[in-house]
Parts: sequence; C-alpha cells; structure tokens
Amino acid sequence: MSQKGLANVTAGETALCKLGGKSEELYYRGYNACKLADKYSFEAVAFLLLKGHVPSDDEISAYTEELVLLTDIPFDVEKTLRGLPEDANAMDVLRTGVSLLGIFEPENDDYHGLVIANRLMVLLPRFLAIWRGKSVPKNASIAEAVCIACCDSDVDDVFVDAMNQSLILYAEHEFNASTFAARVTSATLSDMYSAICSAIGTLRGPLHGGANEQALYLIKSFDNIASVEEGIKQKLINKEKLMGFGHRVYKTKDPRSHKLYSILDSLPHTDLFDIAKEIERIMMDEKQLISNVDFYTAVLYEQMNIKPNLFVAIFVFGRIIGWSAHVLEQRANNRLIRPLAEYIGPDPID
Ligand code: SDX
Repeated sequence: MSQKGLANVTAGETALCKLGGKSEELYYRGYNACKLADKYSFEAVAFLLLKGHVPSDDEISAYTEELVLLTDIPFDVEKTLRGLPEDANAMDVLRTGVSLLGIFEPENDDYHGLVIANRLMVLLPRFLAIWRGKSVPKNASIAEAVCIACCDSDVDDVFVDAMNQSLILYAEHEFNASTFAARVTSATLSDMYSAICSAIGTLRGPLHGGANEQALYLIKSFDNIASVEEGIKQKLINKEKLMGFGHRVYKTKDPRSHKLYSILDSLPHTDLFDIAKEIERIMMDEKQLISNVDFYTAVLYEQMNIKPNLFVAIFVFGRIIGWSAHVLEQRANNRLIRPLAEYIGPDPID
C-alpha cells in the first residue's frame, strides 16, 4: 500500500538534522538551530553542516578568508545574468546562474563537492544582485550580501543580524522535498550543479518554498485586525489553502516560526505583525494549523523593504547549505534511490 506523498515514510538516514519528535525542536548535527541563530554567523553554521563541527575562532577566520577568494564571477556568467528580463522569476534566475556556472566550472576530481558548495553559497546572492543591477563587496558576509542584493533601502546592522538569523533557520531541514530531490539526483552520481538545480526547481513550488510570498499577500489582504477573523473563516469555508500554515512533520509548532516571532518582537512595531498574529490565532483556533517558517519570514522581509517576489530566493540562500551537505552525505554512502510504485492501471492488453 503506497503512502501518498511518502507521508510518514522513512526514506533514508541522515546525521545532519533532527526535527519533530516529542519536543518538536530542530537540531543541526545535535545543536539546537534556534540557539545557533542567537550566537553564530551563517558562515559558522555552514561550516558545522558541511564540515561536521562548530568552528574555532581560528577556523572561522580562515574559512571567511577562503570564502572571500571565491567571489569572482566568470565574465560570461555575469553578462548573461545582466541580460535576463527584469520580470523573470527570481528562482529561474538562480537556477540559470547555477547551470551556467556548471558549464564554465564543471565539477571534476580537482574541483568538486565542498569547494562548489562554498562557491555557490557565496555566489548565489551575488547572482541575484547582478540581475538587479547591484554589486556586493568581496568581503561582505553572506547576510550582508543578501541584504544588499534584496533590500530596497539602506542596509543597517539590525536588519543584517535579523537576516543572518533567518538564513540559519532556513539552512537545513532533513528530507524536505527540495533536499530529497537533490539526494535523488546525487544518487545517480550526477554532478553537484544538477543536484542543486533539481533542488531549486523543487523549492520553486508554493507548497514548499514559494509560500512566503503568498503568505505576505494573505496578511496584506486585511486592512485591520477587526476584519481578520471573518475573512479567514470564509477562506477556510471555501477550502482555501492558506500559505504559511501547516507542515508535514511539525504538528504543535514549527520552532523556526517561534524564533522569527521573537526576532520580529525585537524590531520596531508594525501593524502587519499584529494582523499576522491574529491570523495565526484564528488558524490555530479553527483548524489547529501551525504557522510554518514561511509565515513570519514574510512579515520580516516586508519590514526589511524586500520585494515579495524575492522572498523564496532568500530561502535558497539559506538552504544551499543543507542541499550541499545532503549531496555530500549521499555520495559518502550511496545507493541509487528508486522506490516502487503501486500499479493501478489496466491489466495487460493483447
Ligand atoms: C516549509 O517539509 C519541510 O520540511 C518543508 C519546510 C522546509 O524547511 O523545507 O519546512 C518548508 O515548511 C514551508 C511550507 C510552505 N508551504 C505552505 O505553507 C503551503 C501551505 N501548506 C499546505 O499546503 C500543507 O500544510 C503542507 C504542504 C505544508 C503540508 O501538507 P500535507 O502534510 O500533505 O497536509 P495536507 O495537505 O494533507 O493537509 C492535511 C489537512 C487537510 O485538511 P482535510 O482535507 O484533511 O480536511 O490540513 C489541511 C488540509 O486541507 N491543511 C490546510 C493547510 N495545510 C493543511 N488547510 C488550509 N491551509 C493550509 N495551509
């Protein structure tokens, strides 16, 4: 008997991430992800996921210097990105950038895995910046690079810190759809670029990564708190799927949503946050549905003056680390991923 959507099916092993269970907390290699977000840079969490331990001060200094050397972009890649239409989908821009880089810097025995993962972590925000006619300094941190690429206002330290925390919260999440797509691609011994393109294409869908943009439109559809309860109840009566709510694994809370709520609480107040809180209250009361990571990131990125069509790209800038770490883990103990299907078609026909 097949499980629709592979719900509750254990499809493999990982040492990278644990989520759900009784506590419904999120752990990266045993460390609580929300606590990592309090103390560490995104680069330090990338080091933990990719190399297996929290870096020492010397190690993180050396790693940061190594990343600065990876910021150059091949001329032809930059030229193509500049020429892409302004109204292109940001996910298509990123997927194209990864594909192009794979043509000019193909993976081989000398240039593989971890180096490409670091290169993509550094270049993906810069790809988006180039497409938007912006430029990122070589020594910018990943969070600074994302803010420069995406924010349409001056970048300040408070927002860079909030971005750093949101990237850590997006970084890794076990066998979610886009990560599993990357593992399936890697299990055929395909290259890192193809695995990341599979992941970007998968994350593009609104049931997975594209929900944060739709969540903002939902929140902004209400002018005031008083109109929220009736509006949400009507949407539920109409059987609408409200983006930013529900999760296949978490049932009582998404710890990342709670963390994002506290980050927003520490920022200047906005009416949008109040409306979002009211929507969350009603969704829990009426459908026992939790807000997921895409709900409050929508409120945070709106407050950072980021256009909604760029929200899912930020998900990529964080999750590139999880995807890459899973590709490396799959390669280290590989077997082709090929499940069975339950046949429901016609009997053999002469
Ligand atoms: C992430 O997998 C991961 O780890 C993902 C992620 C990650 O970090 O990679 O955590 C990323 O969490 C963002 C998810 C962003 N997507 C959305 O917010 C889209 C809206 N959410 C739903 O589509 C849904 O909740 C899913 C896709 C997230 C989960 O889908 P499931 O587990 O297949 O649940 P389901 O669709 O079978 O729903 C079960 C019930 C249904 O009611 P009934 O038909 O049984 O009466 O709950 C209802 C659904 O109608 N329901 C919703 C709802 N989500 C579930 N009803 C209204 N709005 C919703 N959002």
